Amino acid sequence: MNVEKVTVESIRRMKGKTPIAALTAYDYPQTRLLDEAGIPFILVGDSVGNVLLGYPDTTLVTMEDMVHHVRAAARAKPAALLVADLPHHSYESVTSALANARRLVAAGAEAVKAEGGRAIIEQARAIVAAGIPFCGHLGMLPQKVHESGGYRAMGKSDAERHDLLDDARALAEAGAFAIVLEIVVPGVAKEITRAVAIPTIGIASGPDCDGQILVTNDLWGTTPGRIPRHVKPRLEIPNQMRAAVREWKEALKCPASEVIV
Ligand code: KIV
Repeated sequence: MNVEKVTVESIRRMKGKTPIAALTAYDYPQTRLLDEAGIPFILVGDSVGNVLLGYPDTTLVTMEDMVHHVRAAARAKPAALLVADLPHHSYESVTSALANARRLVAAGAEAVKAEGGRAIIEQARAIVAAGIPFCGHLGMLPQKVHESGGYRAMGKSDAERHDLLDDARALAEAGAFAIVLEIVVPGVAKEITRAVAIPTIGIASGPDCDGQILVTNDLWGTTPGRIPRHVKPRLEIPNQMRAAVREWKEALKCPASEVIV
């Protein structure tokens, strides 16, 4: 259980000392539950698109979708740090990035995350300068899944490795408080973790990041469709839900048929 409010500073201080356990949440009960379990970093991810909203990927998630889910999560008033994703197309310019980061904060987010490194460095700087904590996201960028030819590991070539390292350094220099590394070759994720003074939080990027993040619904086994290979679901919830519904349905009885004419 988180007893004290987790801040960006507390997350920063965990680097190299305490593994940062981060999970996604999209609504009030899920946020409460993760907070009660002591998760210090809760992300209202744009994975809400494929996990809850029935979109094929995160590229269709809108600011309206994010604001709705951030509000619901924030109503849980978690002691955890509540971070929210800026969705696709919401931070293409410095002006839109700032306006949309402020909308997420008004909805209850305490920090925002966006995908990219040097390509969005002006946006990251502006968000930090406005007093909004910023989390970077490098490696496989789900909002660019169509351009990058699918969900694939990043950092395999020397050029990709150099780009990732330069992007990570640029984000740290711009004032990001942490960087999510998604499907980065483990050796490169380790190198980035050593190269920057801020925490790295990995997803499918090997064990050598400062923290790990998962989509909670993958961990619970409730994500519809295929669960990514890097996650081993810990529960059998969908089968239990189907069984509960069937049992309830089968126990239904018709009222004694005394027809009133
Ligand atoms: O949207 C999301 O859930 C994410 C995590 C997988 C890092 O960005």
